[in-house]
Amino acid sequence: MGKNYTIGIIKGDGIGPEIVNETIKVLDALSANMGFNLEYIEMLLGGSAIDKMGVPLPNATIENVKRCDAVLFGAIGGPKWDNLKRELRPESGLLALRKKMGTFANLRPAIVYDELVNASTLKPEIVKGVDIMVVRELTGGIYFGQPRELLEDKAYNTMIYTKDEVRQIAKVAFEIAMKRRKKVCSVDKANVLEVSQFWREEVIRVAKDYPEVKLTHMYVDNASMQLIREPKQFDVILTGNIFGDILSDAASMLSGSIGLLPSASIGHGIGLYEPIHGSAPDIAGQGIANPLATISSASMMFKYALNEEEASIKIDNAIKKSLAQGYRTADLGSFDAKKICSCSEIGDIIANYVSK
Ligand code: IPM
Ligand code: MG
Repeated sequence: MGKNYTIGIIKGDGIGPEIVNETIKVLDALSANMGFNLEYIEMLLGGSAIDKMGVPLPNATIENVKRCDAVLFGAIGGPKWDNLKRELRPESGLLALRKKMGTFANLRPAIVYDELVNASTLKPEIVKGVDIMVVRELTGGIYFGQPRELLEDKAYNTMIYTKDEVRQIAKVAFEIAMKRRKKVCSVDKANVLEVSQFWREEVIRVAKDYPEVKLTHMYVDNASMQLIREPKQFDVILTGNIFGDILSDAASMLSGSIGLLPSASIGHGIGLYEPIHGSAPDIAGQGIANPLATISSASMMFKYALNEEEASIKIDNAIKKSLAQGYRTADLGSFDAKKICSCSEIGDIIANYVSK
């Protein structure tokens, strides 16, 4: 008897539906091969939820999430909803969902596939072998801090971290580092911000429990420069919400395209598995989006949520094989491409590989 898993599916807006559909194709092929029974529960979030239900995070979504073992998410947002008040925008729905699910740790691996060293805008010798894990705090910091307000003559946000918030995310980073190259670089702006001084002191305290891990600290401006200058110096980057948002986009370009980077948002309870990129409204509906970041997020889901390491490896190997064979979506350019593929062609290829 195969194992049963209930997977929440949030397609979202823009390219979201295309990339998630391809990922479902891969999940179906994989589950047939491995004997899992996957049940999907589709839910609304973001712009499509605003259009159908009037709010970016409907109650039904919050309720449905509780029935799932993991949730797979595409992307949200688009110009159609840009003029709405902040609370009603698609992005607010995603942030509220992360908060409700307690997914305080966002793992964003930036790996450069050997096959794609020429696809990066950086020199091959700089990016070859890059393997970084950005551990981004996801449910605190300036994204959620109070007070916040947009007034006529001024506006403000608050960057705030509590001891518990820093400790819990720092622990995640150190635990991950123990399974990797045992280095954590904590990124902050402690030369200017009190909240960063506090962050740094707390991280140093947590580090005492992990004597084998080498802890360093870096200011965020320097870190953004070092990521491009010598990315191989990094193993685990531990940072707050907004710095992690920015640095993970920067790190994605080491790999050649933001369309490749997956993420796992984990913490208390079940996790949300989401590509790091946005909804790319400019290319939505054209069938040219790269589904690999979402397919790769499904691999993280098998690994972190379902404890199905073999399934995760199967997906990772299928992605590597498709790249080695020269199959590329347009965002990767024509570097070493044998064929420029559509979104659904990549889905077919990966589904075929994982079904064997
Ligand atoms: C990300 C995105 C989101 C974020 C947006 C869409 C709210 O940029 O997941 O990186 O800022 O967290
Ligand atoms: Mg982002």
